[in-house]
Amino acid sequence: MPFQSLTQSNTFMKILVTGGLGYIGSHTVVELQNKGYKVVIIDNLSNSRLFVLDGIEAITNTKPEYHNIDLTNQEAVNQFFKTHQDLDGIIHFAAYKAVGESISQPLKYYQNNLFSLVNILQNVKTYNIKNFIFSSSCTVYGELKQLPITESSPKLKAKSPYGNTKQIGEDILEDLYKSSKQFKAIALRYFNPIGAHKSAKIGELPLGVPQNLVPYITQTAAGIREQLQVFGDTYPTPDGTCIRDYIHVEDLALAHVKSLEVLTKKEAATFYDTVNLGTGTGSSILEVIKTFETVSGQILNYKIVPKRQGDISTAFADTTKAKQVLDWETKYTLADALLSSWNWQKSL
Ligand code: WQD
Repeated sequence: MPFQSLTQSNTFMKILVTGGLGYIGSHTVVELQNKGYKVVIIDNLSNSRLFVLDGIEAITNTKPEYHNIDLTNQEAVNQFFKTHQDLDGIIHFAAYKAVGESISQPLKYYQNNLFSLVNILQNVKTYNIKNFIFSSSCTVYGELKQLPITESSPKLKAKSPYGNTKQIGEDILEDLYKSSKQFKAIALRYFNPIGAHKSAKIGELPLGVPQNLVPYITQTAAGIREQLQVFGDTYPTPDGTCIRDYIHVEDLALAHVKSLEVLTKKEAATFYDTVNLGTGTGSSILEVIKTFETVSGQILNYKIVPKRQGDISTAFADTTKAKQVLDWETKYTLADALLSSWNWQKSL
């Protein structure tokens, strides 16, 4: 029996994970269950598949409780909380996250990402749920001159409605924190999540044509895509291609468990903070491609094409605060993450 996480009343902590069948959500559910938490998932399968539940069970020998609920349906959300009044915490992943789609369909993003957040937070207040973790993003910073990016870096105007929903989401949390007598929350600002679980039983499931770099690389190597397009090589970087901070999804999942431990142990009744989750190291597209070819043994078919609208040149995290606040730092390398992505791709 894994070590059980006990509340003061000696029962197992029960955690709601919204979007728990999604990419980062499913990996976090695995780590929570490995630590003995009881997990309840809400996921409407808009960007995931039900078989992810089997992958979670195969890894942890525990099938989490699962509900298919549209979080923008206030009545359905209220009904769920009425029958789950014993939650010790919530990790809120559920949101649309395709930057390009948010530019062409802004209302879809504002409606989904913000209405669902407010519907949940209203129940957090009603049932006095004390610990809340919000899935935020480095997109809240926009294009910054000062690097690495710290949590006190300015939040420039978001370059997409998606990024704006994350900025507004953080503002909502901060306002709720200021107005509450009992509410502890952390907003985790992810840099670029990549990789898959070491078992290759769960991983990233891009539905349709992948928008992100690494799934496009693995699908190209697997022959599903013809050729990777590298969006621009005239950026002010050493090899001209964009630089990003690629973080292994297993490191990211563990940061959520650490955040929950920090919140539940905090004596103070109220708390709010934001934390960057990255490796602290930037890698260019060409470096990612070279590393992938080395770990996979595949030669990648790619071509340099014009820049993609909305891309920024360089972004990587200052990881000082994550170490201080969460006592957490990444363990995996870019090569580890890319090999795990490739193993996952081959398992599909
Ligand atoms: C990375 C780099 C592209 C695809 C997004 C979200 C951000 C966060 C991480 C959630 C860029 C280049 C990509 C391709 C390419 N998600 N690229 N060819 O745009 O840094 O960030 O994912 O929190 O919110 O904005 O990630 O993987 O799309 O792109 O050359 O086919 O790879 O130009 O430089 P991005 P990405």
